[in-house]
Amino acid sequence: MTPEPIVRITAATKSYGGIAALEDVSFDLRPGEIHALAGENGAGKSTLCKLIAGVITPTTGTIQVDGKPVTFANPKDATERGIAMVFQESSLVPQLTVAQNMVLGRESALNSVRRVRNAARQVLQSLNFKVDPSQLAGSLSTAKRQMVEIARAVLNDARVVIFDEPTAALTPEETEHLFDLMKRLRQRGVALIFISHALEEALNHADRITVLRNGQLVATGNASAFDRPTLIRHMIGNDLSQMASERPKTRSRAAKPVLQVEDLRMGSMVNNMSFSVFPGEITGIAGLIGSGRSEAAKVIVGHTKRNFDGGRIWLDGREVWYSAPSEAIADGIAYISEDRKYDGFFDTLSVARNIGLGWLARFRGRRILTPRERLRRVAADWQQRLSIHGAGGGKSVVYLSGGNQQKVVIAKSLVQEPRLVIFDEPTRGVDVGAIAEIRRIIRGFADSGAGVILISSYLPEILDLSDRILVAKSGTIVAEFARDEASATRIMHAAIH
Ligand SMILES: Nc1ncnc2c1ncn2[C@@H]1O[C@H](COP(=O)(O)OP(=O)(O)OP(=O)(O)O)[C@@H](O)[C@H]1O
Ligand SMILES: [Mg+2]
Repeated sequence: MTPEPIVRITAATKSYGGIAALEDVSFDLRPGEIHALAGENGAGKSTLCKLIAGVITPTTGTIQVDGKPVTFANPKDATERGIAMVFQESSLVPQLTVAQNMVLGRESALNSVRRVRNAARQVLQSLNFKVDPSQLAGSLSTAKRQMVEIARAVLNDARVVIFDEPTAALTPEETEHLFDLMKRLRQRGVALIFISHALEEALNHADRITVLRNGQLVATGNASAFDRPTLIRHMIGNDLSQMASERPKTRSRAAKPVLQVEDLRMGSMVNNMSFSVFPGEITGIAGLIGSGRSEAAKVIVGHTKRNFDGGRIWLDGREVWYSAPSEAIADGIAYISEDRKYDGFFDTLSVARNIGLGWLARFRGRRILTPRERLRRVAADWQQRLSIHGAGGGKSVVYLSGGNQQKVVIAKSLVQEPRLVIFDEPTRGVDVGAIAEIRRIIRGFADSGAGVILISSYLPEILDLSDRILVAKSGTIVAEFARDEASATRIMHAAIH
């Protein structure tokens, strides 16, 4: 017998300025189930979740909880009904500690600082998350911020927990751990929703799967009724075969590196890291989260000044040192951040303005007059090249879906025509179709003679794209593989041992 749903959505539509982000969607969530939501970027997945979590209200349609109609004026109303959401982009307050964030909105229940911290510590420990409750949220890595959000939902004793792309920032091990945790919650009767672009996660871990396309619900059913091709067909409306990934061409090594890094050191994160990047080549850097890859990249582009301890950097044989990202940009180095919300774009500006600013950044220090019309065309061109959807009417980037925001970050950097690009987790949170596009762009960049560094925690991506693979561990490079000698097992072995 099918249990009564905890949450039932009937004929919900959510429109923004007359455009439906979600259209006539009926959906139910049962106690003790893990329900996966799939769909392309901008399909309406986050919108559906936000309706359930009280972040937004439906334009038309109804929501029932335990068979009774509800209207949530804000997330707190939903929290009181036991509904918690872990957001796609971090919702933590950076200036507060981990513990304070976890009890935010219900401080009265746990008044003293010590009790708050102890409660937080207990939950974090029970989840096996290695996060210090007294640390400021703003200083946490993406993965750790996510952990804190999950722990907060568990601490709040939620009956419904919604995860918006929870695994995007996690390592394979952390991902397994999260799914184990979700299964434990399921046993207690908790209903779980998760969004993921990794189709295997939906196929392997969900009880039911719902697919959205263009704001409409196109399929829902037991996970066992789906396989990868059917799921993709529902998501994009046709087969993926016409955009099957092309094999990269073998490139011959240029004589001189475009970038050379020697003994880079920063605090405890980067320890004597040395490596070179050659033009026309994709240099993959694999490693676990916390292996110092992003930190090294940030030191190179002048993004991180704190705790700088030393090292030397050469660009095309000339020694350089950047104290601000704008200097690196002016020299033709683009860094595409893993954390789009914190440093990827100007969220209150439109897509076109963001791309335009990226373009202007090339001319730092030189006065130039760029006609508006020119800027508009450059922006429109990139918008089209990367298929950035939902950007109409000069809408602020903050309103774009997560995957489309990621594409804005990429466009804003690539418009600078850099000679070295550092991609940090470029396809995180991006749908299957857009992943293929972004990979094609990365390859195209190397083919045109630029140097590319690819930092990715997703091994198949590293293996698929890189000409040469470096493995980082504890802030240093511990192994290097040519494309033909690399394998997932060898890389993981180097990353862990
Ligand atoms: N506040 C808003 N104002 C205007 N448009 C919005 C707003 N929120 C969402 N949208 C639009 O609604 C559509 C659906 O967005 P949503 O965030 O639900 O997509 P998604 O399926 O979660 O995509 P992704 O996989 O990229 O995260 C998008 O076209 C988005 O631009
Ligand atoms: Mg989303």
